[in-house]
Amino acid sequence: VAGALWGGRFAAGPAGALAALSVSTHFDWVLAPYDVRASRAHVLVLHRAGLLDDEQRDGLLDGLRRLGDDVASGALGPDASDEDVHGALERGLIERVGPDLGGRLRAGRSRNDQVATLYRMYLRDAVRAVGAGVCELVGALVSQAEAHPEAAMPGRTHLQHAQPVLLAHHLQAHAWALLRDVDRLRDADRRLDASPYGSGALAGSSLGLDPALVAHELGFSGPVENSIDGTASRDFAAEVAWVLAMTAVDVSRLAEEVVVWTTHEFGFARLDDAWATGSSIMPQKKNPDVAELARGKAGRLVGNLAGLLATLKALPLAYNRDLQEDKEPVIDSVAQLSLVLPAMAGMVRTLTFDTDRLAELAPAGFSLATDVAEWLVREGVPFREAHELAGACVRRCEVRGVTLDALDDADLAAVSPHLTPAVREVLDVAGALASRDAIGGTAPVRVSEQRAALRQVLADA
Ligand code: ARG
Repeated sequence: VAGALWGGRFAAGPAGALAALSVSTHFDWVLAPYDVRASRAHVLVLHRAGLLDDEQRDGLLDGLRRLGDDVASGALGPDASDEDVHGALERGLIERVGPDLGGRLRAGRSRNDQVATLYRMYLRDAVRAVGAGVCELVGALVSQAEAHPEAAMPGRTHLQHAQPVLLAHHLQAHAWALLRDVDRLRDADRRLDASPYGSGALAGSSLGLDPALVAHELGFSGPVENSIDGTASRDFAAEVAWVLAMTAVDVSRLAEEVVVWTTHEFGFARLDDAWATGSSIMPQKKNPDVAELARGKAGRLVGNLAGLLATLKALPLAYNRDLQEDKEPVIDSVAQLSLVLPAMAGMVRTLTFDTDRLAELAPAGFSLATDVAEWLVREGVPFREAHELAGACVRRCEVRGVTLDALDDADLAAVSPHLTPAVREVLDVAGALASRDAIGGTAPVRVSEQRAALRQVLADA
C-alpha cells in the first residue's frame, strides 16, 4: 500500500474497519510542517553518522525542501490510503526522490519519537500564539480602563452591592488574571523544551545518531534524558490543556460579566453593533453572542482536559496507541481559543460604558456603610461596635426608605452620639474611592499606577 510504513510480516492488508479506526491524518496533518523540518534534521544526523553520503544527503534535503513547499502550498495533502501524517510524508518524499533514496530516511527513528517531538514543536508555537491572543484581550481591557480612569461602579460580592470601586480597577482585575495565564503558557514551554527525537520506538537507536544535534536543529535546548519517558509521557500536553482550559475559564468570567452588564436591568454597557447579534424572530434583539460563545467554549476546553487526563490514566509505559488520542482535544482547545480571543478583544475594545448609570448605582445598596464603620473607628470606636452602629443606620434607612446620606442629624444622633454630622464627609463615592489608597486598593492614584505596571507586563510579554 502506498504510504504504508509496515507490512512485511503480514500476509494481508488491514481490514477496512481497522484502517478507518486507525487513520489520523484528519487531525495530525497540522504536524506536517514540523515533520518535514524534523526530517531535515534527521538527514543531518544520518549523514553525520556515516549512514548517508554527501550526495544522498543533498538529494534528501532537496526532496524535503520540495516536500515542505508542497505541504505549505497545499499541493500535497493526505491521501485516503495514508494512515497518518508520517506515512503520508514518506509517500510524498518517495514520489519526489524515488524509493531507494526516500526509503533511507526512516532509519533510526520511529513514529513514536517523531510524533512526541512534532507535537511538542506544534505546542510550542501554539502556546506563543495563544499568549499573543490573550495579550490582545488584556490590551483591550487596559485601553477601556485608560478611557475611564475615574469612573466609579458598584463593586459586588455575592453579586450584591458591596463597595464602590473604579471601573478601571475592575477591568484591570481581569487583566491580571489573564496575564497570569500568559505567564503559565510561557512556563509550560519550559517543559515542552526537550526533544524526544532519537528515542526511537522506546529504547533509543543503535545507529550512532546524535539526539542533541536534532534537538538543537529543532530549536530545543536539548534532548530528553530517557527514551522511554520521551516516547511515553504526555504530561506536557496535559499541562498545556490545563493552561488553555484555565485561560478559557478566566475569559468566561469576563464574558459572563459582559452578558450581565449589557442587560436592560444592569445597563452598565452597550455592545457595538459589529460585536453583537440579532434574533431571527425578535426584531429588537441585540445579543451578546461573543461573550456567550466564549463562556460556552470554556466548558468544552475543560472537557478536552478531562478527556486527555482520562486517556493517560493508568497507561503503562512505553508508547501505546491510546496516545494517538492525545492530539485532538488539545488541538481543538488551541483552535477554539484562537477564535474566542480576537472576538472577545474586539467586543471589549468597542464596549460603551454608561458611566452615568455606573456612578448612580455606585452608592446604591448602602455600599458606603463600611465607610461609616471605618469613620467611627478613626473616631476611636471599636470596630465591633462601629459595625453594629453602621448596621443600625442601614436598618433605619430601610425603615424610612432613604439612602445613608439622607439621614438627618437627629437620625444619626439617635443611633449613637458618636455619629456626629461630620460622618457625612465619608458618605461620598469619590471620597470612599480615594480613601482606599494602599497598594492594590481602588483609589484612582493606585489604579493608575497599577495600570502602568500592567502596561509594563504587557510590553515585556
Ligand atoms: N499516529 C500515532 C500517534 O499519533 C503515531 C504512530 C505510532 N504508531 C504506532 N503503531 N506505534 O500517536
